[in-house]
Amino acid sequence: MIKSIKGMNDILPDDVHKWHSVEDKARYIFELYGFSEIRTPLLEQTELFARTIGEDTDIVGKEMYTFVDKNDTSVTLRPEATASVLRAVIEHSLLNQDSIQKLYSMGPMFRYERPQKGRYRQFHQINVERLGEAGPLCDAETIAMAYDLVDAIGLKNITLEVNSLGCQKCRPVFRKQLKEFLQEKRDMLCKDCSRRIETNPLRVFDCKETACQEAIKDAPRIEDHLCGACRRHFNDLLQTLDALGIPFHKAPRLVRGLDYYVRTTFEIKAEGLGTQNAVAGGGRYDGLVKALGGPDAPGVGFAFGMERAIMLMKEARPVNKGCFVVIQGGREIYRSAMVLISDMRSSGLQAQAVFEKSMKSQMKRADKLGYLVCAIIGETEVAKDMVTIRDMRTSSQVQVKRALAINKIKEMLA
Ligand code: HAM
Repeated sequence: MIKSIKGMNDILPDDVHKWHSVEDKARYIFELYGFSEIRTPLLEQTELFARTIGEDTDIVGKEMYTFVDKNDTSVTLRPEATASVLRAVIEHSLLNQDSIQKLYSMGPMFRYERPQKGRYRQFHQINVERLGEAGPLCDAETIAMAYDLVDAIGLKNITLEVNSLGCQKCRPVFRKQLKEFLQEKRDMLCKDCSRRIETNPLRVFDCKETACQEAIKDAPRIEDHLCGACRRHFNDLLQTLDALGIPFHKAPRLVRGLDYYVRTTFEIKAEGLGTQNAVAGGGRYDGLVKALGGPDAPGVGFAFGMERAIMLMKEARPVNKGCFVVIQGGREIYRSAMVLISDMRSSGLQAQAVFEKSMKSQMKRADKLGYLVCAIIGETEVAKDMVTIRDMRTSSQVQVKRALAINKIKEMLA
C-alpha cells in the first residue's frame, strides 16, 4: 500500500468542516479590517527565501524542500508566505497603485522539520501582510486582528507575547554585547549556536536545546538597549494594546525563527498544544520590501497555524440542512424523483439520494448522514402527484402536493 509522506496529512471529510469554519471566520474578520486576498504559487525561486528569511535560520539552513527543475533552476516549496507575497507585490507594482496594501492569504507551507504533535512537514497558514505604514498603531491593530481571529475560533487560555528587536541603529550595539556574553559561554552552547556567535548571535535565543537556554539565562536583554525611537515605538504599541483591552506579556527573548524582523515581534500561544504551542506569530519587517528590489515600504504581518488551532477546536459537525430523497420503484419512479432532486438543488436546497438500494438501507443512510428531513417517492406518490415528507427527529410523516414539497421542506428545516 502506498502511504502518505511522513509529516504530510490528509484532511478527512469528518474534519473538514472545522477547516471551513476557520477559513470563513478569517475571511470575515480580515475583510472587516479592509484586507483583500492574494494567492501566490507554492513554488518560488530558492533565492527568494534565502534572501528574506535569512541564510542562517533553521528554515533556510535545514528545512526547505529545494530541488533543481528541468531548466536547472533551483526552486523551493514555500516554507512561509511573507516572501512570496512581497515578491508578488513588487512584481506587480501594487504599491504604485496604492501605497498601503493590506493582504491575506491561506494555504499549505512546507518545512522539513521533525514531525511531532502540532509540527508537520506540510502545514497550513493563514497569513497577513500589511505594507506602507510604519507606526506602532498599525502593529497594534494587526495584533488585534490576530487576536480577534483566535477569539472567534474559540481558543481558550491564550497568551500574547510581545517584544521589540530594535532597529538597524540599536541592534548592532546589542549584538556586540550579546556576542561578548556568548563568547564566555561558548562551551555550553550546541554546535549551531557556537557557530552563530559570529554569524547571528540573536538566533541563540531561539534555540530549543536545554543547555543553550541555560547558557543564556543571564544574557543581556534587548529591551535595555533600544534606541529612543524604538523605545517610543514599543511603549506606544503596549499602551495601545492596553487601550484595546488586549492582554499581553513582554517576552524579552522572543526573536522568532526568521531574520527579517525589526522592532515588534509577537506570538500568540494557546494551552493544550504541548511544546508546539504557538498558534500565530509575526512582527514588523521594515526594509524587507526594499531589500527585495521594491520601494522603501515598511511592513508588518503574522501567520496563523491552522493545524494547531484545529486541534483545539471542539466544534461539532453542523446538522445536515438538506433533504435526503428515498426512492422506491421502477425506472419511471427514479426518473421522476431525479427531476424533483434537480428542482430542489435549483431552489438552493441541498439534496441527495442513493440509487437502487432497499428502502431500509436508504433510511439508514439518511440517518447516518444526519439528515433531519427525507422526501419519499414511490409509486403511490408519483400516481397522486404527491411527496411524502418524513421528519427524522419525530418519525412523523405528511403527504403534500409535489409542487409544494420544496417549500414545505424548507419550512421544516428553517
Ligand atoms: P512562523 O512563526 O514561522 O512565522 O509560523 C507561523 C505559525 O505557523 C506558527 O506560529 C505555527 O502556528 C505555524 N507553523 C509553523 N511551522 C509549523 C509546522 N511545521 N507545523 C505546523 N504549524 C507550523 C512565519 O511563517 C512568518 N512568515 C509570519 C509572518 C508573516 N511574519 C510577518 N508576516
